[in-house]
Amino acid sequence: MKRIAVLGSGPVGQALADGFLKHGYEVMRASREPGKLHGWKTAAGPKAQVGTFAEAARWADGVVLAVKGAAAAEAIALAGPASLSGKTVMDATNPIADAPPQNGVLRFFTDLDESLMERLQKQAPDARFVKVFSCVGNAFMVNPAFPGGPPTMFICGNDGGAKADVRTVLDQFGWEVADMGTAEAARAIEPLCMLWCIPGFRQNSWGHAFKLLRVS
Ligand SMILES: NC(=O)c1ccc[n+]([C@@H]2O[C@H](COP(=O)([O-])OP(=O)(O)OC[C@H]3O[C@@H](n4cnc5c(N)ncnc54)[C@H](OP(=O)(O)O)[C@@H]3O)[C@@H](O)[C@H]2O)c1
Repeated sequence: MKRIAVLGSGPVGQALADGFLKHGYEVMRASREPGKLHGWKTAAGPKAQVGTFAEAARWADGVVLAVKGAAAAEAIALAGPASLSGKTVMDATNPIADAPPQNGVLRFFTDLDESLMERLQKQAPDARFVKVFSCVGNAFMVNPAFPGGPPTMFICGNDGGAKADVRTVLDQFGWEVADMGTAEAARAIEPLCMLWCIPGFRQNSWGHAFKLLRVS
């Protein structure tokens, strides 16, 4: 992957777009209103472009999905499933419901038998979805520096080639990778967002990431 579409005008889109630029990729950041990203484009330099979801999906050879979870299906429809065909889609979304957290625990609009990513994979069956970046705050997505060394990014998806693409990105972005298997594993990975946010909501503590420890 050399040309990355970042579907998302929020903080995740910004962090990942800047990260891909830092590592030498070309980036087109997308919004329903691309005009609001012109300030970012000017600051980001010659390898940065902005466009609509459809323009970015057509142009790219790899895609980041970083939109509000409840709007993810709409964003995929706007991008156009045909334009995503055969492309690695790095899915950072979480299915956070509008209802407020309960004692610091986020509510999801999915259940444990179907993740958001599985729904999106069914919507765009020829896209190669990989769950990634969903279990950490945007401040740590690119080259995080923790005293305990590189944290672990949990990923999953049905296509081995797409996961190899994502491993390459995660190596550059300073992460260890734990591949949890097929798309169904997103049922377990997406709720890590709930766990990650609890210290934030309860103690205003947002400076952490997960690490998987192994005996060998
Ligand atoms: N914030 C974090 O640190 C963090 C960490 C891990 C994962 N995540 C997940 O990453 C995703 C992005 O989070 P975020 O905080 O950067 O931003 P966000 O506020 O959750 O999402 C903003 C994006 O959603 C799009 N959007 C909203 N309604 C839409 C609709 N009806 N149709 C199409 N697109 C729509 C917006 O598009 P327009 O530009 O067109 O308005 C914008 O690009 C979320 O799913 C979140 O759960 C967030």
